Amino acid sequence: MKKAVNDFLVIENRALNATNYLIRLLSPEPLPAIYPGQFVNVGINDSSEVFLRRPFSIFEVDYENNTLGLVVKILGKGSKKLSEAATGSSISLIYPLGKGFSQPARADKILLIGGGSGVAPILFLAKTANTPAENVNILIGAKSAGDHIGIEDYRQYGATHFTTEDGSLGVKGFVTQHPLFAEEITGFDKIYACGPDPMMRAVAKMAQEKGIFCEVSLENLMACGFGVCLCCIEPTVKGNLCVCTDGPVFNINSLKW
Ligand SMILES: Cc1cc2nc3c(=O)[nH]c(=O)nc-3n(C[C@H](O)[C@H](O)[C@H](O)COP(=O)(O)OP(=O)(O)OC[C@H]3O[C@@H](n4cnc5c(N)ncnc54)[C@H](O)[C@@H]3O)c2cc1C
Ligand code: FES
Repeated sequence: MKKAVNDFLVIENRALNATNYLIRLLSPEPLPAIYPGQFVNVGINDSSEVFLRRPFSIFEVDYENNTLGLVVKILGKGSKKLSEAATGSSISLIYPLGKGFSQPARADKILLIGGGSGVAPILFLAKTANTPAENVNILIGAKSAGDHIGIEDYRQYGATHFTTEDGSLGVKGFVTQHPLFAEEITGFDKIYACGPDPMMRAVAKMAQEKGIFCEVSLENLMACGFGVCLCCIEPTVKGNLCVCTDGPVFNINSLKW
């Protein structure tokens, strides 16, 4: 798919909680087809301290208004700078990057699992999946209730469930300790997950043991975002692959985990 580099106009930037921001951006050109799991590589403007672009998943696309949305969690200097982007300023994006999740079939019972910033592509998938809401379960994990980004709107796309490490919302523990995953996993045809590496490995291990189709989106450190610098390599059964171009979404059977 052809990549573009363009300056997008910041039309909204609002805090979702103490550390996450929803940034809506207006494209100067009609947006191409964009799929859940794909990402943009963002140039951090006006910052001499942040040299490289930073990758962010596409959270939502509005083709009618030609906008896309990112959920930015403050982690270091780049994401902090981005979280401060003023409405009316412009941000350079390389887009759309990577390969997204496969589309589930209508009849599939699917479990969507998101943790940390992995919530963004998972909610985009929930919104765009062909599967009717009664076949969709969305399981979101966070450290504490205050870290959840408020996904009430997503109840229309599937049953939503939460875990928190401190027990302040939903089931106490990790997503893998939620009964949907720990006890009822064999009721699902397909699992799609995005989150921190240990979470992805735990999800993949269980899915593999139970023989359930599972795709995970990886968050390896990246620089170029389009297959040139080789800093995002992941060992797979087909050899070392670039997460930015061959992923970030991989079927778990292709990973050497
Ligand atoms: C494909 C992809 C999609 C992503 N989507 C989102 C998203 O939708 N929303 C979001 O908030 N973040 C997302 N991220 C993570 C985001 O790119 C990083 O948080 C960001 O680059 C950090 O930059 P920084 O300058 O703020 O922090 P840095 O100063 O670069 O790093 C701060 C600390 O965080 C660690 N770190 C940096 N990047 C990562 C990472 N990818 N995984 C684990 N640790 C990391 C560093 O090692 C360092 O310890 C995504 C990453 C990838 C690869
Ligand atoms: S980030 Fe440069 S090759 Fe993947």
